[in-house]
Amino acid sequence: MGCLTLSWVGKDRALIGTPDGGYAWVPRDDPRVTEVRLLQERSSVGEVGDTSAPTTDNQLITGDSYDALHALTRIPEYASEYRGRVKLVYIDPPFNTGQAFDHYDDALEHSVWLTMMRDRLLLIRDLLAPDGSVWVHLDDAEMAYCPVLMDEVFGRANFIATVIWEKVYSPKNSARHLSVDHDYVLVYARDAEVWRPQPLPRTPEMDAAYRNPDEDVRGVWKPGDLVANKSYRLGVYPVTTPSGRVIPGPPPGRYWRVSEGRLRELDQDGRIWWGERSDNIPALKRFLSEVRGRVPQTLWPYAEVGHNQSGKNEIQALFKGMIPFSTPKPERLLQRVIHIATNPGDIVLDCFGGSGTTAAVAHKMGRRWVTVELSPETVETFTRPRLEKVVNGADPGGVTEATAWSGGGGFRHVEVGPSLYDIADGHVFLAAWATGSALSRAIAAQLGFTTECDPPFAGARGRERLAVIDGVVDDAVVRAVVARLGDGERTVVVGKAATPEAGVLLEELSPGSRLRKAPRDLLHRGVVR
Ligand SMILES: C[S@@+](CC[C@H](N)C(=O)[O-])C[C@H]1O[C@@H](n2cnc3c(N)ncnc32)[C@H](O)[C@@H]1O
Repeated sequence: MGCLTLSWVGKDRALIGTPDGGYAWVPRDDPRVTEVRLLQERSSVGEVGDTSAPTTDNQLITGDSYDALHALTRIPEYASEYRGRVKLVYIDPPFNTGQAFDHYDDALEHSVWLTMMRDRLLLIRDLLAPDGSVWVHLDDAEMAYCPVLMDEVFGRANFIATVIWEKVYSPKNSARHLSVDHDYVLVYARDAEVWRPQPLPRTPEMDAAYRNPDEDVRGVWKPGDLVANKSYRLGVYPVTTPSGRVIPGPPPGRYWRVSEGRLRELDQDGRIWWGERSDNIPALKRFLSEVRGRVPQTLWPYAEVGHNQSGKNEIQALFKGMIPFSTPKPERLLQRVIHIATNPGDIVLDCFGGSGTTAAVAHKMGRRWVTVELSPETVETFTRPRLEKVVNGADPGGVTEATAWSGGGGFRHVEVGPSLYDIADGHVFLAAWATGSALSRAIAAQLGFTTECDPPFAGARGRERLAVIDGVVDDAVVRAVVARLGDGERTVVVGKAATPEAGVLLEELSPGSRLRKAPRDLLHRGVVR
């Protein structure tokens, strides 16, 4: 079978963030793409767990989503908590509308947008739990392309649906062409065979259709059709009503939904309704007590989940007198997504966090969360203060009442650390900050060691210990490191330089142990074009 793919200029390349919030093209093995950035703890808010276990809590991360997702998938302390364990990813990336909003620009070159999304979706795939799902909020700007990209990343078979969200409550009479009423939310499962949505609560209008004319002890019920169009081998037979009337069979070209034997069983159990005079075509009694809730549908009107202006009103109520964040989503929209895709205690991730709506709603709904936002200004002005208010029970708006939220819990605020590398004239050097314990932590992250503080060792990976030397590795260093190894252990020694004999001696004293030089041996490519 042929495979449809989307191609674009630069698809085989990668991007790095630039200081102005834009992107620059680089080869995929550029050290700034392959390196794993550290997540540096800034502070915590409310109740958080033991600091030696930094991942037991919710995380607000300031920095680029690529670096944050890369760290969550690769640094062992985070990967053990998040890789393959995130139940829901909701993202509302810049739509590429070509506009410059107050708090961020939304005008990337088309191929830059696709590459930016592809590289983050690949990391998101690694983070999703086997029964997880990813929801991507879009408008028309990229709606024709993003599903093809997501087919490539998640597999076409894992496409679930496109939700249409009615985002405005009145037409824009100033529209040049048509006034657009809706956004899209694309839903993909990690595995559509496994993922199942939670039913929505039923509405009073839906329940009003249920009655109990025969005073059944099982409570109110609604008649359901016993005739179907779908061909069914056992579905054609005559039926005699309790009044004695013989119905020769289902209407021509149609079928009873159940076999004759099953109809008899249902009737004996009082589950068949023959009408007030016991003379009608049979109907199945569907009891309200037995229906599971409302199956989620794809059309989400603003009357049910809010509109753009309700999102803005929520932010304005929290930050009185300030220019509101440009594009906040209404809390009820996120409440519905989170309800359908998670259970209490599950992990929800949003790596284009904006004003923090996803995290705020996840917190109020008793889910764990990770949210990432690139702009430090947005984090300081909106995201962090908003989440502080949620923790302190000082946010009475949004879904607070519906979720009976009154405050509690907490979160850690971390930020993506600087690059380990400085680049001058195309050559790669270690950054000036990379000394002492900072260097050790950074090297451990690059090589996938869990950090430990047991000098001379700075990391462990199974029976392997990592020793990072902020200087030259010579014979004396090798002997000192090997002397501290336990039975059956080996070591990876990383130094900024090494004498020619040190590697040979290490191999002799501890076969299987290795000597590496930083940055040279950490790089796929030592020269940057
Ligand atoms: C449409 S807004 C999200 C709004 C959010 N759903 C809310 O309710 O407030 C997109 C956000 O993504 C942020 N962003 C853009 N590029 C990013 C990146 N590479 N990493 C992390 N955040 C990014 C922007 O700064 C902006 O705040």
